[in-house]
Amino acid sequence: MAAMSFPDPVEQPYEAAQASAAALAAATGADRHDIAIVLGSGWKPAADQMGEVAAELPMTDLGGFPEASVQGHGTSVRSIVNGDRRILAFMGRVHLYEGHHPNVVAHAVRTAVRAGCSTVVLTNAAGGLRPGMWPGQPVLISDHVNLTGRTPLLGPNDDRIGPRFPDMSTAYSPRLRDLARSVDPTLEQAVYGGFLGPTYETPAEVRMARTLGADLVGMSTVIETIAAVHAGAEVLAVSLVTNLAAGLSDEVLDHDDVLAVAAHSAERMGGLIAQIVGRT
Ligand code: HPA
Repeated sequence: MAAMSFPDPVEQPYEAAQASAAALAAATGADRHDIAIVLGSGWKPAADQMGEVAAELPMTDLGGFPEASVQGHGTSVRSIVNGDRRILAFMGRVHLYEGHHPNVVAHAVRTAVRAGCSTVVLTNAAGGLRPGMWPGQPVLISDHVNLTGRTPLLGPNDDRIGPRFPDMSTAYSPRLRDLARSVDPTLEQAVYGGFLGPTYETPAEVRMARTLGADLVGMSTVIETIAAVHAGAEVLAVSLVTNLAAGLSDEVLDHDDVLAVAAHSAERMGGLIAQIVGRT
C-alpha cells in the first residue's frame, strides 16, 4: 500500500491524511469511521471492551506511519463495530521522543478526521502530582500545559485542515467530560503537563510542573490534542495514573511498572469508553 509516491506527512499533512484515510476505507470496507481512540501505554486491554473487531491491520499499511518502537505500543489499527458507530482504534502511538516530527505524531489524528471521525479519544499513562492521586486511578484531562516546545501547526497553515489560530479554551470537550462523568461520577479531572521525555522528570521539574498548574505529567497527547482541535474534532482524553511523579514517593520509576499498573485499570476504562461512545 505504501507506494513510493505516498505523500510525506511532514511536508503534505493534508494529502497524507487523505491518502491514509482512503487506504483505511479500502482495507476495512467502511467508507467512514465515527470515533477514533488512541491507546497509550498499557491501554490495549481497553480496546477489547469496545465492540466487535471488523478488521485489524498494521498501521504501516495505511502509509505515513513509522514503525512504533516503545514496548507496550502495538502497531495495528482496528475497525470496531459498536452499535451503529464505527470506532477506529490505534493500538499504539508514536511520540516526539522517538525523534518524530510533530506532523508524524499528529498523522493518526489527522487521518481519523479525514476518515470521518468527529470525536477523538486520547489515552495515556501519566505520573500523578496532585495529593490524593493513586496508581491505577483514571483521570479525565481537563486542560494541558504543552511543555514540549513543539506543535504540529508550525509553518504555513493549511486551511483545508483548520484555521491558523485555533482556539484552545475548550480543547478537552466539556460536553464529553460531562458525558464521561455521567457514566462514572467518580472520575476526577486534572491538568496534564506534556513533557518531551524520554527521561522521567526530575523532582525539580515535577515541582515546576506543579507550580505551572499541572496535576499530571506525561510524554504524549498534547500534540495530538492540538491537531484534533485544529481539525475541528472534539477531544476526550483519559490518563491512567501509573505512579506518583518523581520526588513524590520513594519508588524508582520503571516502564514495566507503568505498564503493569495501567493494564489493571485499562479493561475497566475500555468499558467506560464504550458506554461513552454509545452516548456521543
Ligand atoms: N512522567 C512522565 N510520563 C509518565 C510518567 C511520569 O511520571 N508515568 C507514566 N508516564
